[in-house]
Amino acid sequence: MSAPDSQNKRAGLSAKLVISVGVILMALLFGGYSIVLRVWGKSAPPTTEELAARARAVALEDRPAWIELARGMLASENIQPLAAPIEPINNRGEASRVELGYLLFFDPVLSGDKTMSCASCHHPDYGMADGLPKGIGLGGSGFGPHRAGKGKVLQRNTPSVFNSAFSPIQFWDGRAGTLEEQALIPIFSEEEMNQPSVAELLKRLRAIPRYRELFASAFGFNSKQDGSEISLPNITRAIAAFERKLNIVDTAYDRFVKGQDDQLTTGQVRGMVVFFGQGQCAVCHIPPHFQDGVLASTGVPVSLEKGAPLDTDPGFANVIRRRDGFGQFKTPGLRNVSRTAPYMHNGIFNTLEEIVEFYNDGGGRGRGIEVISQDSKVAKLNLDEQQKKDLVDFMKALDSLEPPPAVPNSVPSGLPVGGK
Ligand code: HEC
Ligand code: HEC
Repeated sequence: MSAPDSQNKRAGLSAKLVISVGVILMALLFGGYSIVLRVWGKSAPPTTEELAARARAVALEDRPAWIELARGMLASENIQPLAAPIEPINNRGEASRVELGYLLFFDPVLSGDKTMSCASCHHPDYGMADGLPKGIGLGGSGFGPHRAGKGKVLQRNTPSVFNSAFSPIQFWDGRAGTLEEQALIPIFSEEEMNQPSVAELLKRLRAIPRYRELFASAFGFNSKQDGSEISLPNITRAIAAFERKLNIVDTAYDRFVKGQDDQLTTGQVRGMVVFFGQGQCAVCHIPPHFQDGVLASTGVPVSLEKGAPLDTDPGFANVIRRRDGFGQFKTPGLRNVSRTAPYMHNGIFNTLEEIVEFYNDGGGRGRGIEVISQDSKVAKLNLDEQQKKDLVDFMKALDSLEPPPAVPNSVPSGLPVGGK
């Protein structure tokens, strides 16, 4: 080895030493800094409870302070903006299926006496529901709150099908899992569309040339259009594909979440702080869908009369065959909620104000009703009048800013669109 060589090597070594020491020092400094931050809590964001406590000292009209609190709550709960629903692997939301499902949804040909369609109870003019306390089935006529006739009064309130794509369970008692599975039930239910048999349904649809075309393009491997693609699973796939497009994604709330401060009134921002904080609503109505995919008992009484007992509907108890499920119902999503009164599984509450009073009292139990398994998260809230009003206003910020789906001009059967 020559002298300059070993000199170079020594220089290289000391350079390496300097770098290593530097790196170690920096690591120590950074580590120390993060420990300091953790210990003194400078970087830890405030929790929802801390923010709710701070809210008590904020003046009603101090808009910037309320916005800061609301944004703090979104951050502490790690609320994300809405994403598209997940399509099942065998039903990817192909446009041809969505179009077919759309027409089937409005076509009374699916019902036994050809008078009723899904839209008879889930109508675009009424938030994809019917505005009635309880649905009106077989023998009914018309749409929405005007639906009457000698129709059979169903056991429960008609939920909106908006955003049902985001729910892991369907029906108030959660007895169906997927939209495909759900769609079968009203078609063959004797109280609803009362279609007598699968054979009859398929025969009817196969006799309609337009349906042969539509099913072939949605499900066919060839273009034979011989009706062989018209099957029960494909009918339900098409309907479900259409329903998965019925999503409320643009509301004043969503715009606020995306960063637009000017979308909510100051009252709505305050209401949001109540919703997450003192009101405890977001514990079950979790954004972005404002539901949690599970069931709970809030202790809804059978009517609003004084002293009325717990509603007699067993709900989830009938699904799990266990008494502790009695009175448990699915937490409904709250998007568009101001447009789908009356409320709850039995439709007894007519306004959001009544609902807020019910929760403020501590649900059924808080009102002195004997409730079998009321959820512990439903307890007295001690909200003042302003907070109650703000909470209602916030729920109105969940209304869709887009128009509902249009009613088709005609359906392939040639029957009256939507039914009688
Ligand atoms: C006669 C009125 C009526 C008709 C017709 C009807 N539904 Fe319903 N729908 C209801 C009622 C009432 C419920 C709630 C029943 C329950 O929870 O036990 C419901 C529940 C649902 C749900 C579950 C929503 C949720 O949030 O849990 C979906 C989805 C649905 N219907 C879709 C359809 C489709 C698709 C059709 C046509 C094939 C249809 N409905 C026909 C009244 C009706
Ligand atoms: C323990 C979970 C839980 C909590 C906490 C909770 N909810 Fe609910 N919410 C439910 C369930 C379950 C239902 C359906 C009850 C029924 O039909 O019997 C419901 C129903 C509703 C409805 C009726 C929706 C419809 O379409 O019929 C509204 C509105 C509502 N809740 C708002 C609120 C507000 C506001 C708060 C806070 C003050 C709140 N909820 C707190 C679980 C909860």
